[in-house]
Amino acid sequence: MAGFTEQQEILVKESWETMKQNVPELSLRFFTTILEIAPAAKGMFSFLKDSDEIPQNNPRLKAHAVKVFKMTCESAVQLREKGEVVVAENTLKNLGSVHLKKGVIDPHFEVVKEALLRTIQEAVGEKWSEEMKNAWGEAYDQLAAAIKAEMKKEA
Ligand code: HEM
Repeated sequence: MAGFTEQQEILVKESWETMKQNVPELSLRFFTTILEIAPAAKGMFSFLKDSDEIPQNNPRLKAHAVKVFKMTCESAVQLREKGEVVVAENTLKNLGSVHLKKGVIDPHFEVVKEALLRTIQEAVGEKWSEEMKNAWGEAYDQLAAAIKAEMKKEA
C-alpha cells in the first residue's frame, strides 16, 4: 500500500474540524443515509428500532455517529505517523464484542462507509475532492479491518 500522506491527514482533520461544529445535523444525515442505503439496519440500533422516524437529538445516535467519524479521523493520524491503525486493546475488544452481539456483519461496514463518505461530501460542499474521499475511505477501511478482525477472533 502506498503510504498515507501528510496531505491526506490534513484533508481528514480539516474536514472533521468543520463538521464537528454541527454534530446534531451531521449525525442525523449520517443515519438517514445509512437507512436509505440499507433500511434493514434500523432493527439493529436500539435508538431506531421503536420509532418511525429517526429521532432528533438522540444522545446514543449522536454518540455512534461521532465515534465513527472521530475514530476514523484518529486512524488517519495513525496511518500517517505509524503506517497502521492501532486501537487500544480494551477498546478493540469491546468494539468487537458489541458489534458481534448486535449482529453486525462485514457488508454492513460497506454501508456505513458509503454513508460516511456521502455525509462528508454533503457537509463540506465544494471542498469535496477525490483526494478527500480516498483519504477518509482509506482511514475508515483500516479501522473497519481492525474491528472485523477482532469480531472474527471472538466469534
Ligand atoms: C455501537 C463504533 C461500525 C452498529 C458502537 C460503539 C462504538 C462503535 C464506539 C459503542 C460501543 C459500546 O457501547 O461500548 C463503530 C466504528 C465503526 C462502527 C468506529 C466503523 C469503523 C458499525 C457498523 C454497524 C454498527 C458497520 C452496523 C450497521 C452498531 C450498533 C451499536 C454500535 C448497532 C450499538 C448501538 C446501540 O444500540 O446503542 N459502534 N461502529 N457499527 N455499533 Fe458501531
